[in-house]
Amino acid sequence: MFSSSTREVPEVGKVPRHLAIIMDGNGRWAKKRLLPRVAGHKRGVEAVREVIRGCIEQGVEYLTLFAFSSENWRRPADEVSLLMQLFVRALEQEVDKLHRNGVRFRVIGDLSRFEPRLVELIERGTALTAGNTRLTLTIAANYGGRWDITQAVARLLKVAPEKAAGFEPDDLAPFLSMAYAPEPDLFIRTGGEQRISNFLLWQLAYTELYFTDTLWPDFDRAALVGAIASYQGRERRFGRTSEQVGADA
Ligand code: IPE
Ligand code: IPE
Ligand code: MG
Repeated sequence: MFSSSTREVPEVGKVPRHLAIIMDGNGRWAKKRLLPRVAGHKRGVEAVREVIRGCIEQGVEYLTLFAFSSENWRRPADEVSLLMQLFVRALEQEVDKLHRNGVRFRVIGDLSRFEPRLVELIERGTALTAGNTRLTLTIAANYGGRWDITQAVARLLKVAPEKAAGFEPDDLAPFLSMAYAPEPDLFIRTGGEQRISNFLLWQLAYTELYFTDTLWPDFDRAALVGAIASYQGRERRFGRTSEQVGADA
């Protein structure tokens, strides 16, 4: 367990240990080229490969990617179904490669709505790569930040019913779906929108936010390096003054 990064202050100028990304703009990338939206999602998978390689090169330890939100079921049925097919295909083709590269694969989100084939591939990939330590790749699928917090409360109260009378943030943290990772240091959203869209609500409390107009399929290693450079230029104060931070360094 990692304690909250609001207390465990990372060193300034370092590469983020945990990078969380909302991969947005696939549809607009395709539209600009008069292609169907799914063509953008396919190119988006290429960008995922690039960014995984980039994270390994840069020494990022945890990469968390928002692939499908609990709200994305509202999209047209054919787009949802194509996204699910892409997910299945990506798992079939990539899990062994991830394993050879020392990547630990995890999925967070409510899996109960997924087809058995997809759940099976997720479970197989998770088990196969569980011992890897180079990079932890987490895919958020049918994930919502509010779902995460409520499922954590439900699990806490099941284990410790007496906590219904009151509990602290630290009581809840072990039940959140990313309890195995430190909180994200850097959040990136591509595609120009400046919102969180129900991604990691609890975990982003003190994360540095970076928004770029670059559409996800165009987000390459150079773009990743640029985002990390922006992060490295920031001062993370966690409530303290700049002078206090300077005195500690
Ligand atoms: C992000 O790209 C991928 C998913 C949400 C699955 P979008 O599909 O949201 O692309 P835009 O926002 O329409 O361009
Ligand atoms: C957020 O993207 C979810 C993912 C990238 C998977 P959306 O494009 O669906 O977000 P909103 O709904 O426009 O905020
Ligand atoms: Mg979008």
